[in-house]
Amino acid sequence: MADNSLIKQLTELKQAIDQHNYFYYVLDNPQVPDAEYDRLLRELQTLEAKYPELITADSPTQRVGTTPASAFAQVRHETPMLSLENSFTGDETQAFARRIQERLKDGSDIDFVCEPKLDGLAVSLIYENGHLVKAATRGDGLVGEDITANIRTIKSVPLRLLGDDYPQHFEVRGEVYMLLAGFEQLNLEAQRNGEKIFVNPRNAAAGSLRQLDPTITAKRPLAIFFYGMGKGQSTFKRHSEVLKKLPSWGLRVNPEWQLVTGSAKCLSYHQYILTKRINLPYEIDGVVYKVDRFDLQEQLGFVSRAPRWAIAHKFPAQEELTKIHEVKFQVGRTGVLTPVAKLEPVFVGGVTVSNATLHNMDEIARKDIRIGDTVIVRRAGDVIPEVVSVIMQNRPADSKPILLPQHCPICDAEIIRLEGEAAARCSGGLYCAAQRKEAIKHFASRRAMDINGLGDKLVEQLVEIGLVHHVADLYKLNQQQLVELERMGEKSAYKLIKAIEVSKATTLARFLYALGIREVGETTAQTLASYFLELDPIIQASQEQLEEIRDIGPTIAKQIHTFFRQEHNLEIIERLLKAGIHWPKPTSAVIKQALPLAAQSFVLTGSLTSMTREQAKEKLIQYGATVSNSVSTKTGCVIAGAEAGSKLTKAQELGIKTLDETEFINFLNSL
Ligand code: IVH
Repeated sequence: MADNSLIKQLTELKQAIDQHNYFYYVLDNPQVPDAEYDRLLRELQTLEAKYPELITADSPTQRVGTTPASAFAQVRHETPMLSLENSFTGDETQAFARRIQERLKDGSDIDFVCEPKLDGLAVSLIYENGHLVKAATRGDGLVGEDITANIRTIKSVPLRLLGDDYPQHFEVRGEVYMLLAGFEQLNLEAQRNGEKIFVNPRNAAAGSLRQLDPTITAKRPLAIFFYGMGKGQSTFKRHSEVLKKLPSWGLRVNPEWQLVTGSAKCLSYHQYILTKRINLPYEIDGVVYKVDRFDLQEQLGFVSRAPRWAIAHKFPAQEELTKIHEVKFQVGRTGVLTPVAKLEPVFVGGVTVSNATLHNMDEIARKDIRIGDTVIVRRAGDVIPEVVSVIMQNRPADSKPILLPQHCPICDAEIIRLEGEAAARCSGGLYCAAQRKEAIKHFASRRAMDINGLGDKLVEQLVEIGLVHHVADLYKLNQQQLVELERMGEKSAYKLIKAIEVSKATTLARFLYALGIREVGETTAQTLASYFLELDPIIQASQEQLEEIRDIGPTIAKQIHTFFRQEHNLEIIERLLKAGIHWPKPTSAVIKQALPLAAQSFVLTGSLTSMTREQAKEKLIQYGATVSNSVSTKTGCVIAGAEAGSKLTKAQELGIKTLDETEFINFLNSL
């Protein structure tokens, strides 16, 4: 038999955990770190494991039952769960308020409680002596299903109420919903495991509550907001009093509710919540206005299943059905191609939508979208409309696949799509009108051509007024043209022209970098410049030749090769050179030195006495060689200093030529 102090200890632990749950879930204001909460919970679990006879049903450890049900029992609601009339416009809402005034034969403005209308599932919970005893779905409004075991798994549902002023037996109603972030996570996992994807958070919440096995429900990110009482509310005079009271018992109420007077204020609330909607972590599909005074609610009564004292003012639907007529490809400022569906115009999310993004070719494949399909289009807030999914049953026999174009719809350059990458890109970077501004900004930037004073804003202005179409046009600008620009004085115009002039003297590496070839950053530009020494051989190089260069793999090689195959890119390069861009020509000595070891691969191992390994490496690179760290069949020669180890052994095994330090120095001298 357990002693009283043990029971007291258990009760205190349970109370402490309930308190923390209240601060965490109801007030969104945790009072202790998670670790402390976990410690209390573990302490309780340990004690309960030792004294199982002392486990109570309302213990925070008892949320998840163990035995799955074979079916849900039916529950008759103590008072029917009604639904709401809908209003879709301000006029309809004002008419609703007028009807109320007429019925009450009172022309004065009515007090309304305004609340967000959550897009989830209505549930009814019964508390007896502060303990959760039953939870049911709405069902047909009269009879619902017993989902007590599932509701108990939701952390924001108190199993036992706080305080002591709650009615002995009462019903509280609310909406179970799924957080958007949790919904996305759930679908991500479902996709990974090849399971069913939920179309929206409401369906996911409904599916989760309809699980016969509560251990599954317990894993779902569900939450609840309570919005009213059934039986038991007669101790209150106003709905607003109920909403103020519920949180003190641990019953979570959406904090966005407001008490207003008159329908005009209801409409302002609608506007206000509409602007907040996009930032809410859960979905709402409108707002609800409820007459605040219960005596007036009673006088007004009901029509069929809906009260006369409340109405749901819906937001425009965020998802609608429509048809894809064709698909066009847009080219973004960095050359990325985005497929855009041209739709049968449809009113969704408050505007008429005739285009929706399809993101990229992978998304098209994943959603199996074809031209001619009937699709669900979604527009949430100001977010770009997108195609959510295809209604497969409606696919016409003549539906057409969506094909990636081979040439840019803007400049006709080749489209490159690299393996493993979702994005397809235009390779006409220097010429393509879609990429103009970015190409010029990059070209002028400090580490590229370093045109001092040509900032992003100015580039945009020059392009917008049509003075500059391509980077080559920069070298045609004159001071007079610049002075006519906004915010440009004589002096700065002069300085800019001077800076453009100065930029003509550059290096091959900087010039290559400035061209903005995809994947070619400063280091790769430098590698190309030191390997080839001149521009022409780079332009002529085959993809295979490029791939032979150290640090240049097939991806970069393909980008470089394709870039220089675009007629328009070459035209711009020619114009740039004609305008006077130049760099130091490699002297004959450099060429002579560079040639002997070009494309030969060396590995250095062991220690050298006459120079450091780093110096030896530099020398080899100067002569055009590549130097790598590991020995492979591609290695041409291994330089083995004193105490060379496994690399030398490997070279010998592979039959690769090796040189000791003296041989190496003689070899360098012979070049
Ligand atoms: S009050 C008689 N308040 O909307 C009043 N309902 O269309 C009945 N809902 O079944 C409900 N948020 O699932 C009320 N703040 C809110 C609500 C809300 C969402 C749902 C609820 C109800 C449906 C009625």
